[in-house]
Amino acid sequence: MNLLIATHNKDKLKEIKNLLSSMNITILSLNEIKNLPEVIEDRETIEGNAIKKAVETAEKTKYLTLADDTGFFIDALDGAPGVFAARFAGDQCSYKDNRDKALKELEGKENRRAHFRTVIAFASPAGLIKTESGEVFGTITHKEVGTKGFGYDSIFRADESGKTFAEMGSNEKHEISHRGRALKKIIPFIVDYFKKLEV
Ligand code: IMP
Repeated sequence: MNLLIATHNKDKLKEIKNLLSSMNITILSLNEIKNLPEVIEDRETIEGNAIKKAVETAEKTKYLTLADDTGFFIDALDGAPGVFAARFAGDQCSYKDNRDKALKELEGKENRRAHFRTVIAFASPAGLIKTESGEVFGTITHKEVGTKGFGYDSIFRADESGKTFAEMGSNEKHEISHRGRALKKIIPFIVDYFKKLEV
């Protein structure tokens, strides 16, 4: 039995594989699928993008598919970058460009609250099956702290741990992360779904 994770991002795939490692299924990623046109993430919400990615990928590949989309919401910037978290500093920007921009825009601001939100969508070639979401709240540091992870990890200190995500091992991060929480909610449903396919 196969489950396709609709991502090329190795960091994300590693996190998701880790969380699904107890399941007896083959996990594929878009890196193993040839000639698949990229899904354009043009919806205004992370829900919209996650659903679009899962449904279109499942339709085209004929695999059961899991897709996620994450937003990063900074209170003092009215929720920016939000759904545009990947391209906060411009179209071809790096993770570091985004972190630098966030730190710069928060200079002199007292309110450094922020949160991540992930929506995960599970779809079959026939359409959407289920969505779940997960959030984690915290504060933006004044400079980069820690060297692990990716994206905004080194400038986001989660309330639950007092450490930045970049100071945590991946298991520690999964326990409280937006994606970890969304996955933990959807995994029992997926396990059940695959069990029903077996009988
Ligand atoms: P995506 O929708 O999951 O690709 O996430 C959009 C952007 O949000 C990424 O390019 C990262 O900059 C950021 N992001 C998503 N998840 C994380 C995370 O777990 N830690 C730090 N940044 C993240």
